[in-house]
Amino acid sequence: MAESGTNQTAAERALDREAAAIGRVMKIRLYPFVPAAAEGVTITDVDGRSYLDFIAAAAVVQTGYRHPRIRQAIHDAMDGVWTAMHCCHPNTHTIDLAERLAAMLPGDFPKKVWFGTTGSDANDCLSRLLPRATGRRRLISFIGAYHGQTTGSALLSGHQTQADVIGLGNVTKVPYPDPYRCAHGPCSRDGCSLKCLEQIKYTLASVSPAADTAAIILEAVQSDGGDIVPPENFIPALRRLCDETGIWLVFDEVKTGLGRTGRWFAFEHAGVIADAISLGKPLGGGLPLSAVVGRHELLDVDTYNLFTLGGSPAPAAAGLAVIDVVSDENLKENAARMGELLQDGLRHLARKYPIIGDVRGRGLMVGVELVRDRATREPAGREAARLAYRCFELGLLVIYCGLYGNVIELTPPLTITAQDVEKALAIFDEALSDIAAGRFDDAKLVPYSGW
Ligand SMILES: Cc1ncc(COP(=O)(O)O)c(C=O)c1O
Repeated sequence: MAESGTNQTAAERALDREAAAIGRVMKIRLYPFVPAAAEGVTITDVDGRSYLDFIAAAAVVQTGYRHPRIRQAIHDAMDGVWTAMHCCHPNTHTIDLAERLAAMLPGDFPKKVWFGTTGSDANDCLSRLLPRATGRRRLISFIGAYHGQTTGSALLSGHQTQADVIGLGNVTKVPYPDPYRCAHGPCSRDGCSLKCLEQIKYTLASVSPAADTAAIILEAVQSDGGDIVPPENFIPALRRLCDETGIWLVFDEVKTGLGRTGRWFAFEHAGVIADAISLGKPLGGGLPLSAVVGRHELLDVDTYNLFTLGGSPAPAAAGLAVIDVVSDENLKENAARMGELLQDGLRHLARKYPIIGDVRGRGLMVGVELVRDRATREPAGREAARLAYRCFELGLLVIYCGLYGNVIELTPPLTITAQDVEKALAIFDEALSDIAAGRFDDAKLVPYSGW
């Protein structure tokens, strides 16, 4: 943190005031950035510096900042009822959105929708309702997954930041298939022997008996775990296993959903059906909104799971506009194209910088795993922190994630152009070159612990 004094920048002053007023528990900080305004894929800080935003508020800003149709939809909804307590009296924006989401989820079965306010409560809803709906008590989820901060969603999570949450013992966590760090290797993203599936079968035969297991919950690209894309044959095989055992297959699409990976939902790349999904982040166009979409048996169980502000009219109206814009502006297709361009450029940089161990992703959900040694794959977490900071100094916002904090994550708005990709790659190149040459003062990182 900058010293107090008259020479402070506006960002330093804001950060000092914030440190005094707002608790540490709600912060992940990588560099001294305080946004003031944004437009499209550019975000400007309180000192007037502009940045190319390849974080998009953690994959929230699907349509670019201040999209006129999203703003208009929110404005119109606020001019109407303003807010409504959907649990007691429904509003039509929310009904419209529910009908839309139910129609978007593949599968020939009756579907229903539930609304909350943030991805965590949607996954909490799943953890609570899945056992009730199926009459089976247990759940299986994956090590590395981040499903949220409420008790139910944190218990589903297998992320290191949730390791202090100890609660009910009905969730068993199994390793996520990571082709780059496969314990059973060799493994390839194009397909593999699926020895990791044997571990799930073993779990179903022992600590989480199949007959008492309600669902297996996963992300089709494990985002906070390190943007891991599983081998192509994993999810289809998992679906078959679920069909054989009567277990539901449920996807957390909070970060991957609504077009980011090139399809509406990331699980669609595997050509399978989901029994239910959770949504959040981009769903409210930046306003608080989450959802569970799934089999009606899940969401019609005989209990309450409701929040006063869940499914409010303005976020729901924004959600409808997000879906319209993603459709009308072909943003799924753009995400697929720009994602390929971005990954190609990053692979090109990997030839120049041995610290890049792996480049992976689907659409505009891209991860760059940094390693100290390509042979041992020793994670380069400190280097990831330096690289993110240096990119910030050069005008590109990126974040890092992964179980070892060594994966640079790139999730720009789906509206980016080839020129934006080119500019981002040029900054990334310069930042990598500076880090490789030791042109970075680690003292800058002292106030920033990252995850
Ligand atoms: C995959 C996934 N699920 C759930 C959540 C929790 O969402 P929220 O932070 O909106 O509660 C996140 C947040 O990062 C996420 O990435």
